[in-house]
Amino acid sequence: MAKKVILVFGSTTDNTEMLSEHVAEGLERGMASVTVKNVTEASVDELADYDAIVFGCSTWGEGDLQDDFVDFDEAMDGIALEGKKAAVFGPGDSEEYPDSFCTAVDILEKTLKKCGAEIVAEGFKVSGEVEPAFGDAEEWGFKVAKAL
Ligand SMILES: Cc1cc2nc3c(=O)[nH]c(=O)nc-3n(C[C@H](O)[C@H](O)[C@H](O)COP(=O)(O)O)c2cc1C
Repeated sequence: MAKKVILVFGSTTDNTEMLSEHVAEGLERGMASVTVKNVTEASVDELADYDAIVFGCSTWGEGDLQDDFVDFDEAMDGIALEGKKAAVFGPGDSEEYPDSFCTAVDILEKTLKKCGAEIVAEGFKVSGEVEPAFGDAEEWGFKVAKAL
């Protein structure tokens, strides 16, 4: 049976949202059944309904989570995600922010691990323009689906 995946993204200028569409296509090519949600419309409680969790989140400030993801990350404190598989991606800027490049990806991986989820693919980090990375985003999604 197809694995049920929830892809939750937080995006201020639409870059993560655009990447999400391509990650979702890759997941679907890998035979996963995918629900894509903006974090503003997602609740921590619904993560329990899926086999796997994919987060997409850009980095803002100096190494902070995208604004809409802050409350969601906090709400995950103490929830149990044992048995769930997970992976995280996000865009950033390695030239402007070399010391905090895509740290949102690292923060969310840490949160997921703390909840007991298993990270099944290395975080996918994109620097600068996201359009050239659409193909890689799809491949990454496919790889994640194959690891479920
Ligand atoms: C004020 C500001 C702060 C930023 N801080 C970081 C940062 O600390 N690390 C990083 O990798 N990228 C940083 N970025 C780059 C954004 O993460 C990047 O533009 C990303 O594509 C935005 O994605 P979104 O449109 O999905 O929010 C910053 C951009 C701005 C404008």
